[in-house]
Amino acid sequence: MSLRQTDNVPSSHLVHSAGSRFSRIAGTGSYLPPGRVTNQDLVDRLARDGLETSDDWIVERTGIRARHFAEPHVTSSALGLIASQRAIEAAGLQPADIDLIICATSTPDMVFPSNACLIQRDLGIHGCPAFDVQAVCSGFIYALTVADAMIRSGGATKALVVGAEVFSRLLDFTDRTTCVLFGDGAGAVVLEASDKPGIVSSCLHADGQYAHMLNVPGNVSGGSVLGDATLKMDGSSVFKLAVSVLDKAAHEVLDKAGRDPASIDWLIPHQANLRIMQGTAKKLKLPPEKIVVTVDQHGNTSAASIPLALDHAVRGGQVQRGHSLVLEGVGGGFTWGAVLVDY
Ligand code: UT7
Repeated sequence: MSLRQTDNVPSSHLVHSAGSRFSRIAGTGSYLPPGRVTNQDLVDRLARDGLETSDDWIVERTGIRARHFAEPHVTSSALGLIASQRAIEAAGLQPADIDLIICATSTPDMVFPSNACLIQRDLGIHGCPAFDVQAVCSGFIYALTVADAMIRSGGATKALVVGAEVFSRLLDFTDRTTCVLFGDGAGAVVLEASDKPGIVSSCLHADGQYAHMLNVPGNVSGGSVLGDATLKMDGSSVFKLAVSVLDKAAHEVLDKAGRDPASIDWLIPHQANLRIMQGTAKKLKLPPEKIVVTVDQHGNTSAASIPLALDHAVRGGQVQRGHSLVLEGVGGGFTWGAVLVDY
């Protein structure tokens, strides 16, 4: 088979335009695996190992009522593929129109190649750049910001940006402080070149000094996993850091655009904990009705949570064209960031 280097590479990919060039969200999509796991299902599962939890505790501390777990043979790229197909369709495009693929994930199908390359293969397209971004729960914010920068600089015209995770695979079901929090799923957007800004401003940050607070410390060596490949988290330290950086990130993107928090129609935060989301909204003086909430039904799906929430809000009629959105995430690394969007 020959390598078709120029397939899906429009002329604008090669020639930088002189006028102002921005990017806008042309379509959104998402997919949840059908296996819905309620809090009571987890209460029963943990009880078999002598561990105690309750629906009341989980709802009160996190807002989570259910999450979805993929079947063991279903990979994150398979979830991402369906979300991508839905986003491409919503944008009124064909897979062949896509000229950049970025997938945010911490649970890729393989060490390599990237999920983005697998999604490209399964979409049946060839030649456009495709790579993964690993910034854990901030991954989608990182991926969206990189795609926006590539579109603005003339490096792409129609980017597929995906967040896809199977976090259930990383969970230690003997640790009740973490295993009740996470779920599986995928979300995607198509970002398209535009003469008006859709992505108005963004900010990305990281501080590796906090790596110990949230991690999966295993790695692959000599054909097996070295160390513990399950998720470890110091929940209360993460909680405090999350509320503090999410507030700052939202202010940073608003300040860059010369806008006030009151101008936000929807806050679409990383869906980790309802109390963190409400705390951030309170600091921004936003009423809770302006927060898009899916954590109750999805749990924390890491890099998938923001595009999943966005797609649910778009398809549910909450988010409409012309609305101003702040998307923001925080996660292991530590990483955090925000994107101000005129949808
Ligand atoms: O996606 C990346 C970002 N991640 C996050 O944003 C997560 C941030 N952290 C959190 O969301 C919260 O810290 C948790 C939900 C993880 C924990 O809530 P918390 O209010 O900070 O509870 P805690 O860790 O202080 O634990 C309170 C109590 C403890 O018992 P004692 O020591 O007071 O007797 C825990 O052992 O709750 C106990 N506990 C549980 N009880 C029933 C912890 N997990 C459970 C459980 N069921 N599943």
